Amino acid sequence: MIGRNDPCWCSSGKKWKKCHYPRLDPNSSNNNLKQKYEKQFQIILKTEREIEGIRKSGHLAAKILTETCKMAKAGVTTQELNDFAHKLHEEAGAIPATLGYGSPPFTRSICTSLNDVICHGIPDQTVLKDGDVLNIDVTCILNGYYGDCSRMVAIGKIDPDKQLVMDVSYECLMRSIAILKPNILLSEIGDVIEDYATEKNCSVVHQFVAHGVGIDFHEAPQIPHFRNNLQIPLAPGMTFTIEPMINAGAPEGYIDPNDKWTARTRDGKASGQWEHTLLITQDGHEILTPWKR
Ligand code: MF3
Ligand code: CO
Ligand code: CO
Repeated sequence: MIGRNDPCWCSSGKKWKKCHYPRLDPNSSNNNLKQKYEKQFQIILKTEREIEGIRKSGHLAAKILTETCKMAKAGVTTQELNDFAHKLHEEAGAIPATLGYGSPPFTRSICTSLNDVICHGIPDQTVLKDGDVLNIDVTCILNGYYGDCSRMVAIGKIDPDKQLVMDVSYECLMRSIAILKPNILLSEIGDVIEDYATEKNCSVVHQFVAHGVGIDFHEAPQIPHFRNNLQIPLAPGMTFTIEPMINAGAPEGYIDPNDKWTARTRDGKASGQWEHTLLITQDGHEILTPWKR
């Protein structure tokens, strides 16, 4: 009987255990899972190489976001924030993913969503003033890989509704990240967020959802932040965002008919949002866009 350390029967010169030794290849079961997720759910489970690319892009997005948030002060225009963030992308050899994205093409390099704007605010000559609450959303493409994140900044002293949506949307994000690991169901993310938001007398936006991200800007799956019935088990190699949009009043929003992007709350009350790109690992998760509040 040939031993594991004996030369392989195929005369490769390698030990049997390093060559044709029959084993359960961890990658082969992984490959099955990869195929299964692509076929059943159109979800791409990323390879180590892809994960490394997405991690680099995510870390850059978080850095650009952090630097841009430091610039957000009373007297500064959202256009100035855009131009600053654009320059940081260029210096890093990255492309801002939002520039030219969609239809009609988004014309800026970041999103700046002020006060009652839920998401997709377009930087312009608006001057930040005391009492504003602002979300800045940065998505960069680095070596073909996408990293997507956003956070909020309070300009001076803000009123209680704005403080509430800022704090609750942050808690919703961090509490839903805390449960992430293989085999939990996608729907559990929405459970955590809706439970917390409603407990705090806020509402969860339905119109916009989180998404797979990494090889493309918006990949499968769509991830609702509200209660749902998506029974997809999370699997190692999944990369996606969580980006709860939380309103002080009603959940409904409407899109600006002129620019076709800016989404505002119907009732004019404040909306909050924070976003991370996440990776599901063998035993938990990793935040790929490590900004700190
Ligand atoms: N970054 C946003 C997201 O979190 C998408 C912005 S699309 C844009 O998915 F075109 F509005 F920039
Ligand atoms: Co996103
Ligand atoms: Co984003």
